[in-house]
Amino acid sequence: MIDVKKIRENFIIYQTQPKLCYLDSAASSLKVKTVVDQVNKYYHTLGVNVHRGAYELAYEATKQYEDARITVKNFINAESEDNIIFTRGTTSSLNLIAKGFEHMLNPGDEIITSELEHHSSVLPWMVVAKSTGAKLVYVPLTKQGKITVENFKSVLTSKTKVVALTHVSNAMGYMTPIKEIASIAHKHQAVVILDAAQSVPHTKVDVQELGVDFLAFSGHKMFGPSGVGVLYGKTSLLNQLEPYEFGGEMADQVFKDHFTYKDAPLRFEAGTPVISGAIGLAEAMRYIESIGMDNIEEHTKKLHQYTLSKMKDIDGITIYNTEAEMPIINFNVIGVHPHDIATTLDQYQINVRAGHHCAQLVTKFLDVNSTLRVSFHVYNSIEDCDIFIKGLKESIQFFNGF
Ligand SMILES: Cc1ncc(COP(=O)(O)O)c(C=O)c1O
Repeated sequence: MIDVKKIRENFIIYQTQPKLCYLDSAASSLKVKTVVDQVNKYYHTLGVNVHRGAYELAYEATKQYEDARITVKNFINAESEDNIIFTRGTTSSLNLIAKGFEHMLNPGDEIITSELEHHSSVLPWMVVAKSTGAKLVYVPLTKQGKITVENFKSVLTSKTKVVALTHVSNAMGYMTPIKEIASIAHKHQAVVILDAAQSVPHTKVDVQELGVDFLAFSGHKMFGPSGVGVLYGKTSLLNQLEPYEFGGEMADQVFKDHFTYKDAPLRFEAGTPVISGAIGLAEAMRYIESIGMDNIEEHTKKLHQYTLSKMKDIDGITIYNTEAEMPIINFNVIGVHPHDIATTLDQYQINVRAGHHCAQLVTKFLDVNSTLRVSFHVYNSIEDCDIFIKGLKESIQFFNGF
């Protein structure tokens, strides 16, 4: 069982903001002390570049950076640390794949995606589809907005080359049955790319078990630093992707009129990498492992179900995702703009998200302009849920008078 009081001792923000009711972890999690300490330690005791200098400080910085790659490899059970590329975040990982794939796509090829995607999972493919003449194909969603294996099969054809889907929708909290989808897609020789920005921070993700070819996530949603993310890719596919950044450390041999690439991961890490970010992310993973991902998942599920059950009793709200598997509640107060509710809740230091959540295809699917979103992580308590419910009821009373 999670002892929230003890957990909060590791999140210094609760010392400066003891009344904080932070319910926006799907956007970004709060930051754990040991991560900040590790990042500071790198800057205070090393602060030098990796892979370059022939001196002790540089060797140590390189060791810590490469050790971080091994920690990430173990965290998602990748085949090797060479399958792990450090990027700026999920967005940069997913752009890297789409751009890197461009030269392998031809007119008429099909890219399967969905309306559940975060913009970073669909816009890069929209751009690449335009430049190559490939076609974007959307998995039809169920009435609730879910992706099912059957619906996926209905759009899979011999022309499908890429399947780019979200693991967990950041707007709806639905989990895609990706293991089955990947297995079917591979029978058609399609490459499967998973946006795992919302799953890796909340549940055990094993890339080999899921069978995906590429997977992307960000550090800042899992207690790690912002500005660092991960791209996992299978070796043979990684080495077929064209890099889209060129510069230091990614080239093998450079001649006056051409150059050759190093193998992954360095092939995709041109320039000085996010050294402190990688070190911080590895520390965040150790922190999660010290609590246990299963314990975190059980805890956030409890908070999710508790809040949902209380919300179902409130008149005048529409909940769009009562069947979400992951701890995200997406809703609206009838007749009140979501930003008004979010601003009112902020007066009680209750932080929720209002807007389209960078997933406009979802809000269009729901036939609204914007919604409110509540999301949980390990530092949230049942008391937070009660504070939120009370604040929500008072906001409704204020705006709607009932
Ligand atoms: C499902 C999903 N994909 C991608 C992203 C983009 O992540 P980042 O902004 O860290 O690149 C997010 C962030 O909200 C997300 O929730």
